[in-house]
Amino acid sequence: MANYDVIVIGAGPGGYVCAIRCAQLGLKTAVVEGRETLGGTCLNVGCIPSKALLHASHQLHEAEHNFAKMGLKGKSPSVDWKQMLAYKDEVIDGNTKGIEFLFKKNKIDWLKGWGSIPAAGQVKVGDDIHEAKNIIIASGSEPSSLPGVTVDEKVVVTSTGALALNKIPKKMVVIGAGVIGLELGSVYQRLGAEVTVIEFLDVITPGMDPEVQKTFARILKKQGLKFVMGAAVQKTEATKTKAKVTYKKRKDDSEHVIDADTVLVATGRKPFSDGLGLDALGVEMTPHGQIKVGADWQTNVPGIYAIGDVIEGPMLAHKAEDEGMAAAEQVAGKHGHVNYGVIPGVTYTWPEVANVGETEETLKEQGRAYKVGKFMFMGNGRAKANFAADGFVKILADKETDRILGAHIIGPAAGDLIHEVCVAMEFGASAEDLALTCHAHPTYSEAVREAALACGDGPIHS
Ligand code: NAI
Repeated sequence: MANYDVIVIGAGPGGYVCAIRCAQLGLKTAVVEGRETLGGTCLNVGCIPSKALLHASHQLHEAEHNFAKMGLKGKSPSVDWKQMLAYKDEVIDGNTKGIEFLFKKNKIDWLKGWGSIPAAGQVKVGDDIHEAKNIIIASGSEPSSLPGVTVDEKVVVTSTGALALNKIPKKMVVIGAGVIGLELGSVYQRLGAEVTVIEFLDVITPGMDPEVQKTFARILKKQGLKFVMGAAVQKTEATKTKAKVTYKKRKDDSEHVIDADTVLVATGRKPFSDGLGLDALGVEMTPHGQIKVGADWQTNVPGIYAIGDVIEGPMLAHKAEDEGMAAAEQVAGKHGHVNYGVIPGVTYTWPEVANVGETEETLKEQGRAYKVGKFMFMGNGRAKANFAADGFVKILADKETDRILGAHIIGPAAGDLIHEVCVAMEFGASAEDLALTCHAHPTYSEAVREAALACGDGPIHS
């Protein structure tokens, strides 16, 4: 069998990006992937298909709610669900084929099948054993469920099943008000389902800035999403077409039952490393089932590395990609590095929600003095023209040095706007640096500048 400098296990955003960087650095590289297509969860059953459905359903929402106001009259479009799924599949196909093209371009071998590691330096795929100087595990994560909840991917579904339902449910129950629950809950609510989100905590999207959480919940409720907060789901009982969800309110222990055509379980994901043979190799794991790595992403077994959802840190495609590139550089004898303090998070609802760096809570915990610059999109001309003026930009900066420590945005294009702050943070910029940068008018990004101005002498338009 061929000998490689590197074999990457898993072709998700972590694995495929890592492989391409390895090849670009002159390493003979192969990727093991057992799915029929490359791209992992993100491209096949995650980020990309969900964004296609979010995009399509948002167009419908605009047609139903804003077209007439702009003088665009006539019947709103009706939903052809089969065609919407076909559009989503076409988007997946284009993206996964794109990775296949990049593999060919970079002379990366795709070893088709599920890989295991019989010994350091060896990867087994089917009956073949391949030799590799370095092995990089990028095997990702899988949905985690709850006791009492049996997923059938038809009536009780994870995000995977929710992207391929055979019809739009009349009633949907979403368990968990995290990113997946709110993104996919929004899709089906816009397409006409009555969506109820049951959340264990008293807030949605745990870990986010509390002001963002409050505004986000208010906007989603206005759009029609229903919330049952502070409730722990106990069990689901499903037939072939319907389900009952039993939950307990935490404050008084009262038990309630709610009916649904579809139940989406969105209570988190867990690292996936089954079948790799890590136990036998003696690879050290964390108590949460993640692979333990050092600063160079190497495990305790020399020559075996791990990146992405299967190690510690936020389960985000872009975090995995950054680790993939950095680990490739480490393997090539360079100095790959990831700045974990500047990893943005984005929720692709409407409006979008984005954050980077510290929150007021984490700064308080650290006892750090900070100032807050906040600007409402209500004062942004472009947002007002586009019926997108709900939300705000909030920048947190060090009270003494003015250095930007974090940002929290809820509003139009938040997922793009956040990167202006990310770049500023990477360069160690102050809020004043952002505030003194000329921003084109009229753009949403002026709201970021105004929030930076609010850290100093004050914004202009509020
Ligand atoms: P999550 O961890 O974001 O949210 C899960 C929610 O379920 C939490 O609010 C939790 O309190 C709640 N919950 C847990 N047990 C419960 C129970 N028994 N009853 C009611 N509520 C319960 O997990 P989610 O949304 O499934 O996402 C998984 C991972 O995928 C996350 O790490 C997320 O960051 C990532 N992801 C990121 C996306 C993005 O960047 N846009 C999109 C989709 C997923």
